[in-house]
Amino acid sequence: MRIPLIAGNWKLNKTRSEAEALAKAVVEASRGVTHAEVLLCPVFTSLETVARVVAGSNVKLGAQDVYWEEAGAFTGEVSAGLLKDIGCTHVIVAHSERRQFFGETNETANRKVKAVLKNGMTPILCVGETLAEREGNKVEQVVTEHMRGGLAGLSAGELAQVVIAYEPVWAIGTGKTASPAQAQEVHALIRRLLKELGGEEVAAAVRIQYGGSVKPDNVKELMGMPDIDGALVGGASLKADSFAALLKF
Ligand code: PGA
Repeated sequence: MRIPLIAGNWKLNKTRSEAEALAKAVVEASRGVTHAEVLLCPVFTSLETVARVVAGSNVKLGAQDVYWEEAGAFTGEVSAGLLKDIGCTHVIVAHSERRQFFGETNETANRKVKAVLKNGMTPILCVGETLAEREGNKVEQVVTEHMRGGLAGLSAGELAQVVIAYEPVWAIGTGKTASPAQAQEVHALIRRLLKELGGEEVAAAVRIQYGGSVKPDNVKELMGMPDIDGALVGGASLKADSFAALLKF
């Protein structure tokens, strides 16, 4: 059985005190939630603050990015070991904003996925097409490249640890959600690719989140699709009441 994973990606938002207040509200809202795992991904500077708030609760801590080297002369970077040290259990890898603005490629995504796994954490590998790619009928090609590139060289055991987030770029922060049927179609493709890469058992075990304008009023329908196993939420995760409402899908 795949337990849905509902994750808040706070992106570049929240001071430490704002992060603390929101994390406290999420911990409160998550009490007694057993039908889903709850994860918060604040900016690096708030990780320690949020780690303290979620300690002992069922809310988990994740980072939004990572560098693949462990240590050394890499000014400005943060390693997987340091994220583990601060209490992270998950790391988002290759979010479309990283691909779009910071030169993330399938190759760097792959190095990051491996570094996260090596440190005993769960990578959330983001895949998904732009509007131009969708309109050019390239969804299958792009998602296949993101999957094969990002997951290259992983054993079946490692693949089973990974979470995939399907995030169509045209739906992120735009208020345009993929319809449940559109999302399900790509999630099914991702599941087929997982089967090719790691076999039937791996494909059945790996969670595939949907992301892109998930809101309290569309989460239930999306979560009702057979291959949608959670949500990676940006905008609606920044307010306690909307995130709490999402948890009740
Ligand atoms: P959104 O962002 O919910 O604001 O569309 C989702 C994401 O980018 O992870």
